[in-house]
Parts: sequence; C-alpha cells; structure tokens
Amino acid sequence: MSSIPSQRKRRTRIALLPATALLLVGGAVIVQSTTPAVAAETTLRAAAANAGLFFGVAASPGRLSSIVGQEFNQLTPENDMKPSTIATSTGALQNTGNADTLVNYAQSNNMVVRGHTMVWHSQAGSLQGASQATLNTFIGNALTRWGNRIAYWDVVNEALADNNTGARRTQWPHTLNRDANGDGDFFDATDTDVIRDSFIRAKQVVQQNNLSTKLCINDYDIEGLTVQGGTANRKANAMYDIVRTYRQYIDCVGFQAHFNDNPNSIITGDLQANIQRFADLGVEVHLTELDIDDDLSNNDIGQGQADNYRKVVRACLNVARCTGITVWGIADSESWRSSERGLLFTGGNGSYQRKAAYTAVLDELNKGRNVSPTSPPGSPTSPPVSPSVPPSPTVSPTPPQPPAGCSASVSLNSWNGGFVATVRVTAGSAPINGWSVGLTLPSGATVSNSWNTTASGTSGAVRFTNVSHNGRVAAGQSTEFGFQGTGTATGITPTCTAS
Ligand code: G3I
Repeated sequence: MSSIPSQRKRRTRIALLPATALLLVGGAVIVQSTTPAVAAETTLRAAAANAGLFFGVAASPGRLSSIVGQEFNQLTPENDMKPSTIATSTGALQNTGNADTLVNYAQSNNMVVRGHTMVWHSQAGSLQGASQATLNTFIGNALTRWGNRIAYWDVVNEALADNNTGARRTQWPHTLNRDANGDGDFFDATDTDVIRDSFIRAKQVVQQNNLSTKLCINDYDIEGLTVQGGTANRKANAMYDIVRTYRQYIDCVGFQAHFNDNPNSIITGDLQANIQRFADLGVEVHLTELDIDDDLSNNDIGQGQADNYRKVVRACLNVARCTGITVWGIADSESWRSSERGLLFTGGNGSYQRKAAYTAVLDELNKGRNVSPTSPPGSPTSPPVSPSVPPSPTVSPTPPQPPAGCSASVSLNSWNGGFVATVRVTAGSAPINGWSVGLTLPSGATVSNSWNTTASGTSGAVRFTNVSHNGRVAAGQSTEFGFQGTGTATGITPTCTAS
C-alpha cells in the first residue's frame, strides 16, 4: 500500500550462518540445518509495514512521547480534529494548532494521518444543528486545510443507532434525512441522506483539488457478522448496505473495534468473514479504534487479553484489503476506558511498559499475511468504480418492465465449520423487476444470517428473494446478496428466476 511509510519496509536480516552448524547440547553434538532466516521485527510499525499494513495510535499533543514514533506508523488525533475543536458555526476552521502539531509530528516521524472526524452527532461543538450546506463548507475546509498530509479522513462517524437495530441514528445530523417515498430507507434518488450528501461533497473536493486522501465511514459494533448468541449483526448489515450503495464515494470503512463485554461488542469468530465481505466491495477496511477489555470472556488480563488481540490482528492480516489497525491510545491509564485496561502498554506520562498483549500483537504481525487465494492483493473482486461524481447517486425509479431471465453465480469464503456465500444475480437481455434464487445446501449446512435478501428455509432447499432496493436490475447488470452458514457449502449451484 503506497501510504505505508517506505523507509520502514526494510527487513532486518540476521547474518547467514554456514549451511550446517555444530551445537553442543547436553553433551551431545547435534547437526543443525541453518537455512537463511529472517529476524522478527522488534517494533509494531516495522512488523506491520512488512505485512503491508499500518499500525497506528490515537494521540493528542500531550502524549507525543518518543514511543509514538518508534512503535507506530499511523496517527489519529484522538480529539483535536473533531468539529468541537476546529469548526465554527459557519463551517470555517478555528483552533487548528493542536491538529497541526499532530500532523507535523506524524510527517516528521514518517507516519500516515487519519483525520477524525467531520460529520458526527457527538462533539460537534458550534457545528451542532448545522445544515447540509454548512456541513459541506466544513468538509471542504477540513479536506483542503491539510490536503494530502492526511491519507484517510473519517467523513461520517457513528451514523447508526445502538442496540443492533440496523437503523440510522435519529439525532442531528441525521434529522436532515428524508425518506421521500416512505420505503424505509434513504437510498432513493428523491430521498435526502446526510451520509450520501456528505460523501458526495467530500469526493468533489478530493477530485477538484487532485487529492489522494481516502474517504472513510466509521462506526462501532459493526465488527462481526453476528453478535453474541449468533443473532445477525443488523448494524453491520446496515453499514454494508450503505457502503455498497455509495461505493463510488466511499474508499474505506472503519470498524472501531472497541471490544468489551456488551453483547454487540464482543469478538466473534466471524470477524474475518465480515472484514472480507466489506473488502469484497473494493473498499479498504481498517480497525480504527482498537481496544480490548481485559474482562471479555475469561477475566484474564494477561494471556486472555493477549489471545484476543492476536485473534483480531490475525483476522485483519488474513484479508488483503484490511490495510490498517489503530489502537485507541498508548497506555491503559491514558485510555478513555482506563478501568478496563484495554491497551498494549501500562505506565503513562511517557514511561511505558509492554504488556502481554503487545507481545502477542508484535508476534502476530511478524507472522505476516495468510491471504486466501480468492482475494489476492490488488485484484478487486468488484470492478473499480469510476471516481466521477454523478448528480444522482442512487437507484432511479424504473418503469415496469416485462419479465425476463436472470442467472446467478456464487463465490464462497469458507473456513473450518462455516462459510460466507456471495451470490451475484445478473439480468439477461431485458431488465428484471425482481428475482428469486434457489439452491440446495449439502447435508449438515445451515443458513444463520443473510443480507440484501429475504431468505426462506435454513437447510436443504433454500430460497432467497430480492428486498425492496435490489429487485430491479437493468439488462446485463448485476446485484449481489450474501448469506452466512455453518457447515460446508462446497458445490452449491444457485438457479435464478426473474419476476
Ligand atoms: O480536555 C478537557 C479538560 O480540560 C477538562 O478538564 C476535562 C473535564 O472533563 O475534559 C477534557 O476533555 C475531555 C476529552 O476527552 C480529552 O480528554 C472530554 O471531557 C471528554 O468528553 C473527551 O472524551 C473523548 C470522547 O471521544 C468524547 O466523545 C475521548 O477522549 C475520546 O477517546 C473519545 O473517542 C471516541 C471517538 O472519537 C469515536 N469513537 C468512540 C471513541 C470513544 O468514545
């Protein structure tokens, strides 16, 4: 990834020994083969750079001790780029001193910066209650103020409601939203959507100023395909719909990854599959605010927390387009969740000690990626989307069309005991107004979760029909839905019926 500071991409190689070496062990002479070895990196940033991702930290100017530049190659201002600090009520900028300090520090330490954040219901300061026009002014000012010195910007933060409803939030700025046709979403051309309109503005500014800054949407409790107990993660599914629908404006999605013992905020076994399905849309996925409660499942701050960190880092490493991890602070004592001791260091005030969690993360990063051959780096499964900004970003109403045929194909991402199936529905030579896909699951396989479809049946012969926003498909065009299951789905053959 071009944004990863290149000076850290080198590998530290230990000196080559002769082809064999004689070792004296317990009085016995052992002949040891000595193939050339690569020494493990000793900092998070070097290990991450070797694996092709950044490893970052949230910081404020008072926390810029030397460990920040030594251990991390990405920096997110924890509070200093929020509208409450830098926005006036008209969308102009103010008080950018701390943000400048952080950007300058990052630049001189060869770190990538993530701007955090523009459109958010919280910490809005004087921007609270602003119109879309004022938000757009602020978006333009913030993007151009730092330009390419900021590699990623969180354009929209925490747009989705709590408690796994899958709904948007109802407080400002989401009070700007209008569901004009009353179909329950904000995706239609006649609807108003603060997410869409903010990203359209941001993409225009990026293009007009020839910036390389990538535009991200960020949220919490969207990490797993499921939540505790195996229920579908409706918040994650809603985010998936948003990213899929507005893919032409959105470059990256941030899973905040504040893991705690809330049923919606735990580490699930399907974290990797969820990262993968977003990556399959062609966006970069980042874990943007990682901290892990020491009291998740085993009440073990030592090895238990370290193991959990290891799992999360591995899930990212196993998806080629998961290109960065950021921990939300350096030491437990300085964290917004200090009592839960969720970070990689103890100590504080510039004097830090590494925890078992640190060692686990470093070790896992040093193992590098183990990317599924179905998703090689640099070969998007979705075709690249034109960066141009069309005036109408959403699905336009289409007049009724005669019935026509469709076809369906499936791609599987499988692991031991489970799978995610992504099904592509393609209209034939005429447009279709609805579709239904049938397939037969092998014995023992069960559907546990699905998105962008209404599923009937969970085992054996199952059927998936379109939902309101994806039934209409133009001639020769495609739409996708997905489902997750237990067991194995190898060999399933979908058949499509158009309506
Ligand atoms: O700096 C003032 C200090 O002068 C004052 O004495 C003190 C009194 O309360 O407040 C200090 O400001 C606090 C600030 O953190 C800096 O420490 C604010 O009260 C406090 O509200 C603020 O909390 C921040 C929180 O966002 C606000 O929502 C946390 O530091 C920050 O870690 C947290 O970050 C958010 C992400 O932006 C979005 N995702 C969730 C994450 C955790 O809540």
